Amino acid sequence: MADWNPALYSRFEDERTRPARELLSRVALPSAGLVYDLGCGPGNSTELLVERFPSAAVVGTDNSQAMLASARERLPEAQFPRVRFELSDIAAWQPRQAPDLIYANAALQWVPDHAVLLPRLLSTLAPGGVLAIQMPDNRDEPTHRLMREVAAEPTWAQAIGDYGRLRTELLGLDGYYDLLAPLAGHIDIWRTAYQHPLESPRAIVEWVRATGLRPFVDPLSDALRASYLAEYERRIGEAYPARPDGRRLLAFPRLFIVATRKT
Ligand SMILES: C[S@@+](CC[C@H](N)C(=O)[O-])C[C@H]1O[C@@H](n2cnc3c(N)ncnc32)[C@H](O)[C@@H]1O
Repeated sequence: MADWNPALYSRFEDERTRPARELLSRVALPSAGLVYDLGCGPGNSTELLVERFPSAAVVGTDNSQAMLASARERLPEAQFPRVRFELSDIAAWQPRQAPDLIYANAALQWVPDHAVLLPRLLSTLAPGGVLAIQMPDNRDEPTHRLMREVAAEPTWAQAIGDYGRLRTELLGLDGYYDLLAPLAGHIDIWRTAYQHPLESPRAIVEWVRATGLRPFVDPLSDALRASYLAEYERRIGEAYPARPDGRRLLAFPRLFIVATRKT
């Protein structure tokens, strides 16, 4: 699959960073020595961590070189000597030293096997350390249902192939609770549906083009990609009717987990 596009991802940066802030606001640590931002993207979430824990060593990790380059531009080493960015796959990631906070905003939905991954992340923390996670929970929203429906049409089905391979099925609120509660001193799990007024069906397509739509359109030739996007946008226009002010209301459910490792 093509690398992530930091500029496209950042087009809706305010909206995408709001859940990152709300996740961090539920982390009760008064201070932290070592903080990891897994799947740091263009560094927007890392920047929040640096503001919140100015004396911590903060490490942003990502498996996209393009995203890491963008993050290093945002938080240059000369200005932020306690911040580092490292290339790493979350599935195999291990900290060199037990962190006080492992934070992953909008990243773990791309990593498989949560039943193994999440307990492992929690157990790598220092005692009393916090695992803070936010993931889009939008597979059943029209945006994602329509991605699959258009991909199943004969015109695109063969070229797209198995689009499900890249994005992980979430376990659900109770599934995550059952998984982490035995290891956690404290656990807070919730789900929120943000409502984003966007100016057009195309804006909704652009929003998902930088993230969930990538596995569908990246394997396509230019011609097939253009026809897929045109059909997808047409269906999005029907599924998200214009409000009286002309805008389309994109509902975006997200799942949050804040778990403290037992001391
Ligand atoms: C939607 S962005 C989130 C960026 C940022 N954390 C934020 O709050 O907006 C997801 C990021 O996770 C990264 N990612 C996806 N799978 C990954 C993996 N297996 N290992 C490391 N990073 C991964 C992507 O490269 C991308 O930068």
